[in-house]
This record gives sequence, C-alpha cells and structure tokens, in this order.
Amino acid sequence: MRASPGRPLAIVSAMHEELHALLPLLESAQQVRLGGREFHSGRIQGHDVVLALTGIGKVAAALTTTLAIQRFDAQALVFTGVAGGLGDGVAIGDLVLARELLQHDLDASPLFPRYEVPLTGCSRFAASAALSDAVHSAALRCIQRGAFSGIQRGALPSQATRTPRLHEGLVISGDRFIATAAQSIALRSALPDALAVEMEGAAVAQVCAAFSTPFAVLRTISDRADDAAHGDFAAFIADVASVVTRCVVQEWLAGRDASGGGRTGRLGSQ
Ligand code: ADE
Repeated sequence: MRASPGRPLAIVSAMHEELHALLPLLESAQQVRLGGREFHSGRIQGHDVVLALTGIGKVAAALTTTLAIQRFDAQALVFTGVAGGLGDGVAIGDLVLARELLQHDLDASPLFPRYEVPLTGCSRFAASAALSDAVHSAALRCIQRGAFSGIQRGALPSQATRTPRLHEGLVISGDRFIATAAQSIALRSALPDALAVEMEGAAVAQVCAAFSTPFAVLRTISDRADDAAHGDFAAFIADVASVVTRCVVQEWLAGRDASGGGRTGRLGSQ
C-alpha cells in the first residue's frame, strides 16, 4: 500500500511512561481530547504522527485504535508496550514482535471455535508483514548498536544481564494480568506457540483488520507471567520499556521515507 503524504502514522502505547518518552520528540505539537484520551499530533523526524495512550485492556485499545484511524486518518499504526514472556527463552528484557495476535480469553464455543472472533472466521490476526519487517529491522539496529546495554546493568533484574533477544511470532491478549505460574502454564498448554501475553494487541489487530490499516505490535518483556509478575512494573516501564520504545521508534522513522512511501530506497514497504 502506498501512503498519502500528510496522513499520520499512529504510535500508541498502553502506559504513560512510554508516551512520555516520545512526547519530547514531537514538533509542532497539537493536542486534542477525544473519548477520554489525549491525542498528540505533530511531526517526528519529518513524519506526520499522532501519539496516544490506548489505556489498558482490549476495549480501551480498540477505542483508541478506532479513533486514530477514523478521526486522524492514520495510514498505519505501531503499538509499543510491555508483555509477560510465555515462550521458552523469552526472557525479561527481551523484545517480542507480534506476527500474529489472538484473544486468549475469547470463547464463544460451541457456536464458534474457541478463540475465533465470531462472524469473522478468524482467530489469529496477522500483523502487516512490511511494517513489522521495518520495526524488526529498527529493533535489531537498536540492539546491535548497544542502545539497551546501559539499562541492562541497572534497571533490569539480575537474571537479565545478557544482550536482549528479538523474538517474533504469536502474541496473545486478554483482559487479565497473568500473575500466577498456574495461569501461565494453562496458557502455554492451550497455545504452545504463544511467545508473550499482554492485554491489548489482539484488539488493536482486530480493529486494524476491520479498517485494512497496516499495524505492528512490539513488546518488551517485563515479567514471565508468573507469581513474580507484579514486580516493580512502573519502574520497569519507565527505565526499560520507555528506552526501547524511544529507540525503536526513532530508528524506524529514520529508515522511512518521510513522503510516506515506506523505507528509504525500497518500494512498497510500510
Ligand atoms: N503485560 C505485562 N505483563 C503482563 C502479564 N503478566 N499479563 C498480562 N499483561 C501483561
């Protein structure tokens, strides 16, 4: 899809700390309050953008996504946030890029297969391949140039001292913070290929699919969705996830053609 210049890129996050990491980058900023949310329009690195909080949970995320697409005419949407790690080797401090998203708490069986969004025939929503590839490259560039090495020693728990890994695959969403090993084991056994669990991504995916809006979801792993998951969540987001969000967004935008045509020097990417 070729984007029209002037249509903004929506960059949304679940938590204030991440939005606040991006706001200082915004030039010619304008603020509008809609649906109980602040939408911050402006330019970052020559790109028209709109920044907003989704809030927490699927309904909140669906509302913000709908407004970004319908009221701001967003050409594409990138979601950044944190998630609990489920897959083997998905450690605290790692990054997970969603290639598919599913609502793990959606079950209208026996009328429809478990996880299927009724009347869509779909349980797994695919993220935009081109946009996700661009975010993947941006995240890799951040990792490779050591952008997160400063935070590994400080804010991360002692077990997370290695270079962060970037995983890609299934991310699952539900209106429940997964904070016991028993819940995590149940999710892993029901959905063995799930890499991470969070509370918004699949709702963003469903709305973007309805409007044919390209989207990508990138998560930093804040916990292992177990009995220790409640930890110091706010500190993790402020010290780690916000640094990841700012670096990846800046790298991604730096690699995009500011006319809206995708990555500099390549055709057709989002
Ligand atoms: N976001 C970050 N950690 C999470 C967890 N354990 N469950 C759901 N959402 C999360």
